[in-house]
Amino acid sequence: MSNKQFVAQEIAKVLPDLDAASIVKLLEQPKHADMGDLAFPTFTLAKTLRKAPQAIASELVDQLDKSAFEKVEAVGPYLNFFFDKAGTSGQVLKQVLSAGPSYGQQDLGQGKNIVIDMSSPNIAKPFSIGHLRSTVIGDSLSNIFQKIGYQTVKVNHLGDWGKQFGLLIVAYKLWGDKAAVEANPISELLKLYVRINEEVTDHPEYDEEARAWFLKLENGDEEATALWQWFRDESLVEFNRIYKELDVTFDSFNGEAFYNDKMDEIIDLLTEKDLLTESKGAQVVNLEKYGIEHPALIKKSDGATLYITRDLAAALYRKRNYDFAKAVYVVGQEQSAHFKQLKAVLAEMDYDWHDDVVHVAMGLVTKNGQKLSTRKGNVILLEPTIQEAISRALTQIESKNPNLANKEEVAHAVGVGAIKFYDLKSDRLNGYDFDLDTMVSFEGETGPYVQYAHARIQSILRKADFTPDAAGNYQLADADSWEIIKLLQDFPRHIQRAAELYEPSIIAKFAINLAQHFNRYYAHVRILEDNAERPSRLALCAATATVLKEALGLLGVEAPDEM
Ligand code: ARG
Repeated sequence: MSNKQFVAQEIAKVLPDLDAASIVKLLEQPKHADMGDLAFPTFTLAKTLRKAPQAIASELVDQLDKSAFEKVEAVGPYLNFFFDKAGTSGQVLKQVLSAGPSYGQQDLGQGKNIVIDMSSPNIAKPFSIGHLRSTVIGDSLSNIFQKIGYQTVKVNHLGDWGKQFGLLIVAYKLWGDKAAVEANPISELLKLYVRINEEVTDHPEYDEEARAWFLKLENGDEEATALWQWFRDESLVEFNRIYKELDVTFDSFNGEAFYNDKMDEIIDLLTEKDLLTESKGAQVVNLEKYGIEHPALIKKSDGATLYITRDLAAALYRKRNYDFAKAVYVVGQEQSAHFKQLKAVLAEMDYDWHDDVVHVAMGLVTKNGQKLSTRKGNVILLEPTIQEAISRALTQIESKNPNLANKEEVAHAVGVGAIKFYDLKSDRLNGYDFDLDTMVSFEGETGPYVQYAHARIQSILRKADFTPDAAGNYQLADADSWEIIKLLQDFPRHIQRAAELYEPSIIAKFAINLAQHFNRYYAHVRILEDNAERPSRLALCAATATVLKEALGLLGVEAPDEM
């Protein structure tokens, strides 16, 4: 039972007109600690009870069973509840210390499956910051859902199909150089792609050829398939290097091409349900009744299928193979029209699970306040940027802790963690400005700041030579530790909310908050001072470290013991 529920239950005992659930909704968290931990405003009762709120508050105080609280005060129209700090701290510390890393683990998912479509870069194109966001957010959501008892399937829906591969084949056959592609696959392939897109204006025949090559590819032509496979393999070598740096894994790399032979079924199903209409030679599904102006284009006049056709096949395949409770797509906000169409077509097809398809949208990342644009040279090249973050982390570690044994490893955890954390701490729909200086700083609301708080605690525990006893009788009643205790107690609820809203930023903000409160504690309290409270203070440290590490873990960020 949460604290709120407990308080509500106590109030309900003396206020038979209201049930606990509606009391919970009225309870407020006071801004100031001297107004208690929870406050119950009596304004709304004045009418039914025909009494002034002040009078109600003071009568309630008299009637309440106050034994479970430090005190309960009536202040004007409010009832202020002060929790029993000593007792609560003992309970919370026991819970965290006995659960250890599994503190916060819940069974809300009951083993059901959640498919997370994430990262999904395009073959022969650079891995963009948008793909980085999707990778990092998707991975964190997977951790969060696992923590509340779901099984997750992380799918990399590679953009490895479409007419652009026809164009790329034409370009490669005209100007390609095998050795150059092998040396620098994505940048060489991108050059070819950019060039053919420029030259096609003067050479409309390229377009025809590209169409023909893509058709060959769709029909399994040997040469076309071999070239496509090669482009794909070479691109994946680069992508996999990034995934390795980020320490992110996938359960499936079934991209768009995987659904090539599953497209006919979609056309058949749509035909059977009489949903296809012809429009200028193409096959479309009208979605006006969903308030969607543009029909979904399913098949072009030349017979080629589209992005959405493949997404329909993918959705069906995932439902059948993973029997998902939710299918989550972590993709930029600029694709929301696409996902609206996708859901609407699934609804038209009478799949009752269309509501379980969720577009987890994200905002744009800018640099120096400007939109990123390859053309304008405002780009973030991911691999060198990650290396730069790691080397800046190393510089800071070298000045703070020159004797650290595994500096390189820690610098990697800090540099990569800094980029991930910064991405995850902003509400996903808000973009952010990509600024390495801010991200890698040990000060401010950053990953390194939280990691440092965790490492600081580990160092205190080493110095004290303290191992907490899960059965120990720990108790703290001071104001600084109380703030920490309340956060520790709230961690499971934050995990739940982060899952409900598909919002890892809730965990990131929680981690910052906990680290800040710990640092305040560290500044105010002599933790190692030898007196009766010392074991309790150290137990608080140990529990805080456990939860910080666990929160960072949910974000896919490591927590080194020393840094
Ligand atoms: N490849 C696409 C892109 O880079 C993202 C794919 C997202 N997933 C999906 N099932 N549509 O824009």
